[in-house]
Amino acid sequence: MPPILAEELRLELTAREKLEDTCGPYRTDKELVGGRDEEDALNHFVHRFTASSARVQYVTLGPGKHFEPTSTDLRSFLTDGRISVLDLACGSGGGFLGLLCTVAELRRQNAHARLPVDLQVLAADISPTALEIHERMLRRVSGPLDAVGIRITPKHMEWDVTDGYSTARLMEAWFKQAGESEAFLVFISAFGAFTEKNRPVVETAIRDIMVRFHDDKQLIVAWIEPSLKGTSRWMGPILELLIGFFKGRGRANSHDAEVKFDWRHPFTKESITGSAKLIGCNRGSR
Ligand SMILES: C[S@@+](CC[C@H](N)C(=O)[O-])C[C@H]1O[C@@H](n2cnc3c(N)ncnc32)[C@H](O)[C@@H]1O
Repeated sequence: MPPILAEELRLELTAREKLEDTCGPYRTDKELVGGRDEEDALNHFVHRFTASSARVQYVTLGPGKHFEPTSTDLRSFLTDGRISVLDLACGSGGGFLGLLCTVAELRRQNAHARLPVDLQVLAADISPTALEIHERMLRRVSGPLDAVGIRITPKHMEWDVTDGYSTARLMEAWFKQAGESEAFLVFISAFGAFTEKNRPVVETAIRDIMVRFHDDKQLIVAWIEPSLKGTSRWMGPILELLIGFFKGRGRANSHDAEVKFDWRHPFTKESITGSAKLIGCNRGSR
């Protein structure tokens, strides 16, 4: 985990008296997927933030080049200018903060250009508790990110993927917040368990989001998932849907072959095996 993120995560867990729980034996139960309920959201933060951030860090750095061109797309997106991100089903932010802090660390180590980035972030989830933690975590890392040239303007919004009006309100809020942004990223991390059970509603929401990009806005979609038993079942149809929107105007591809990697827990130093699959789309050159 990037040091900036590990330190702020430690402080947030300590403030919530949950650091010890995070440092207990690594839990593999499938029920840890967050949700509207406060306890579910908190448990996901305590036991899965590290896994989500490690997975996204792995994809962003892209050793072995398994996830090209998406790894490069993600790093390039955060190079410079006025840009805007929609973090869908954001939870407490493990995935998105993994991306941000990995790029920040590359900048800190002079492995990535330090041009100024003005980043609008709209984070959306059904859980008020998850949104509150996401907001606090973003606020915590905003100083260190600012120090390497990434200035964040965050907004958090309750969103229910099963409600079409909720998605319409979300898109209005995002475009209003985005203002003159030059490029857009729709970022989704670890929403596969829900998607597998509710594919038609997720497809409707994706369609509702994509039709708003009817003009030539630069757009990246990055959907990063652990490799679970049912991932391939929903990933193929969702990719087909996205291909329809990117055909002739960019590219959409998936990396459906399981890629395994080892990551180190930031506090216990335990070595844990993770896995990743993804869908990546890009329209416009960035
Ligand atoms: C496994 S967590 C992923 C969180 C985060 N993106 C990450 O990378 O760790 C799945 C998230 O989906 C959210 N979720 C569940 N049902 C939802 C719904 N109907 N609408 C929007 N979000 C929902 C949960 O609250 C939870 O935060």
